[in-house]
Amino acid sequence: MPASNHIVFFDTTLRDGEQSPGCTMHLDEKLRIAHALATLGVDIIEAGFPIASEGDLKSVQTIAAEIGTGRNAPRIAALARCRQADIEAAARAVEPANSNRIHTFLSTSDLHLAAKLKITREQALDQIAQMVALARTYTDDVEFSPEDATRTDPDFLVQVCQVAIQAGATTLNLPDTVGYCIPEDYGAMFRTVQHRVEGIGGVTLSAHCHDDLGLAVANSLAAIEAGARQVECAVNGIGERAGNTALEELAAVLTVRRDRLPYGHSIDMQHLYPTSQLLASCISFGAAPNKAIVGANAFAHAAGIHQHGMMANPLTYEIMTPESVGAPKSSLVLGKHSGRRALEQRLRDLGHPLSKVELNEVYTRFTDLADRKKIIYDQDLLGLLHLQRSVMSA
Ligand code: KIV
Ligand code: ZN
Repeated sequence: MPASNHIVFFDTTLRDGEQSPGCTMHLDEKLRIAHALATLGVDIIEAGFPIASEGDLKSVQTIAAEIGTGRNAPRIAALARCRQADIEAAARAVEPANSNRIHTFLSTSDLHLAAKLKITREQALDQIAQMVALARTYTDDVEFSPEDATRTDPDFLVQVCQVAIQAGATTLNLPDTVGYCIPEDYGAMFRTVQHRVEGIGGVTLSAHCHDDLGLAVANSLAAIEAGARQVECAVNGIGERAGNTALEELAAVLTVRRDRLPYGHSIDMQHLYPTSQLLASCISFGAAPNKAIVGANAFAHAAGIHQHGMMANPLTYEIMTPESVGAPKSSLVLGKHSGRRALEQRLRDLGHPLSKVELNEVYTRFTDLADRKKIIYDQDLLGLLHLQRSVMSA
């Protein structure tokens, strides 16, 4: 088990996230996101895949120069396949940063080797050895990922990790590329590698999970408990297909449940919501309303029983405050499930304390309207009150 309990947040919003549908960004948008990620406190920004295009190379280079050179700047990483041209492009792109990383990867499952790469296991091992060693000539921080690790033959995976370490890899990332793994098995894979790979104690183990079965955060946690000390995440969980581990969710679970998960991290929690909002303004969709931590309903309460509880003590229905993640304050949404107390409170907040008789009358009108409308806005309430008072004074 690693000596330190500090979890390194490796953010891939600008790489795995940006390469997914609806998420492409221009350079100025990427720069704004990279600044926000630095403020958020991520340790490493994977800024792109420089071989993909001149534009990608330029944006990684600009992020490395602008964000990677400040005081306490995050490390800037770039992705490269196990190919010479990719590694050279990645090296050129991250060169301006104070601290940088080349992240190189090669598929290792038999399915990918045969169907996609059309190479043998031996050829894969050679390519990994050569390209990790090449990457090390440019930087002393090299991450290697055996793509589709969770569907790779475990004995071969051990061999792959061994070769990557011997060639100079400093971080070994074991991706669940297709989001297929369940937490127990993902944790077991990290334990196997730790038991069977020589020299594993000298490298950082990393988790990279996809959410195809909705298990990305759970799998990342399982990896941490099994010894991973780096997690790869994206803001709002964007990424290929169903996305990557949502950064805000993992940071929140490590913070809120520190009683059970005794790990530290450098994420400044109050920047979670603003960063999520910024990302939403740069890509073509925002977080779903019911998304944990940053969704519009994450701190909204509609049922009368819950609203009553919240008014008595917010701890009844909230396990963290919205302020702690930088979100707007909790809201009691008025609709057909709301009770008399929430209505009374909202009208009092709007400057209209009501007598009991008045409240009863307005409440009857309110429930009638709520049967017809999904959400009742403040203007609706003021309209109801006005109507009620005109009837009473007539
Ligand atoms: O999902 C994956 O396997 C990847 C690798 C490039 C790490 O994104
Ligand atoms: Zn991925």
